[in-house]
Amino acid sequence: MLPIRAEAITEAVSALRRGEVIGLPTETVYGLAGDARNPEALQRIFATKGRPADHPLIVHLADAKQLSDWAIDVPVAAMQLAQAFWPGPMTLILKRQAAVSDLVTGGQDTVGLRVPSHPWAQAVLQAFGGGLAAPSANRFGHVSPTTAQHVRDEFGDAVPVVLDAGPCQVGIESTIIDLSAGTPRILRPGLISAEQIEAVLHAAPETPGARQPSASTPRVSGSLASHYAPRTTAELVRRHRLDARYRELERDDETVRVLSIGPLPAGLEGLALPNTPDEYARHMYAALRMLDQEGADRILIESPPELASWIAVHDRLQRAASARDPEFDGS
Ligand code: TXA
Ligand code: MG
Repeated sequence: MLPIRAEAITEAVSALRRGEVIGLPTETVYGLAGDARNPEALQRIFATKGRPADHPLIVHLADAKQLSDWAIDVPVAAMQLAQAFWPGPMTLILKRQAAVSDLVTGGQDTVGLRVPSHPWAQAVLQAFGGGLAAPSANRFGHVSPTTAQHVRDEFGDAVPVVLDAGPCQVGIESTIIDLSAGTPRILRPGLISAEQIEAVLHAAPETPGARQPSASTPRVSGSLASHYAPRTTAELVRRHRLDARYRELERDDETVRVLSIGPLPAGLEGLALPNTPDEYARHMYAALRMLDQEGADRILIESPPELASWIAVHDRLQRAASARDPEFDGS
């Protein structure tokens, strides 16, 4: 992480006070942040991202003490998880305070809250004082950003203030846990695993089963199959099939790039990612963006192991490789 520049924080906070949106580094991915109490700022977030208005936003807070400004009926489980994982890459879905804008909640009776650990995000939140709504700073349906340059690539002059703290440590979005209705339920897997949550709550959370993408009422926009997609057609392929599939596509005159786990198989072009899930996650989005820029006809993504430790990565890769509905291609 780059050292904090005080004048950059001051500039960012002034922009936020004026109702503008900024590129905000967090430990997971870069966010497109705006004042969660300012309807104009919220509308600007949706317009900038090209995101449908019924997709709720996560409110970022400096401290768990601010929970009660946003949520009601906060269960004991929320306090236990906050104690264990905040500040950090976890979002809790709780019953909303009546004053929370419908633009934040997508008109639902719940609100997503997260206390990020990134020192730059913390500095901005503490100086700003209030909550910051911040979706990932990518156009709707596109790959999430993990560097300031990714944010500039997405929005250019439309977002003049982008804080550059260097690459994100986690690299994938926060684990989302719904605590608004009885049994805790993981809505989006992330670095904080079901096992870690179970260890804190002494009860297993519900986990997403077979994902049936529904275009009608997406409570979690990441649940759309086409999410996190590069522009290039992507396909998940098992390692032992990579070489044969690559050659087959080459014979059809396609240019192909491979995203491998561990060393690239000999003779194939592409990028190699580390073979541990946390390290893989850290570099995954940057790698997908790099391969996307090569303008190949297809990206072959090596399938990750079918192990619990790879669930969060697997979740993103499956979406990256899904057939894409043009309606949800925000790029
Ligand atoms: O790591 C992260 O969570 C990043 C960084 C910037 O904090 N943010 C992020 O935001 O991933 P976004 O908007 O790209 O994804 C947030 C997800 C969306 O899929 C949204 O539907 C879901 O959280 N969400 C937000 N509020 C919700 C609610 N009240 N109920 C259900 N899902 C909610
Ligand atoms: Mg997102």
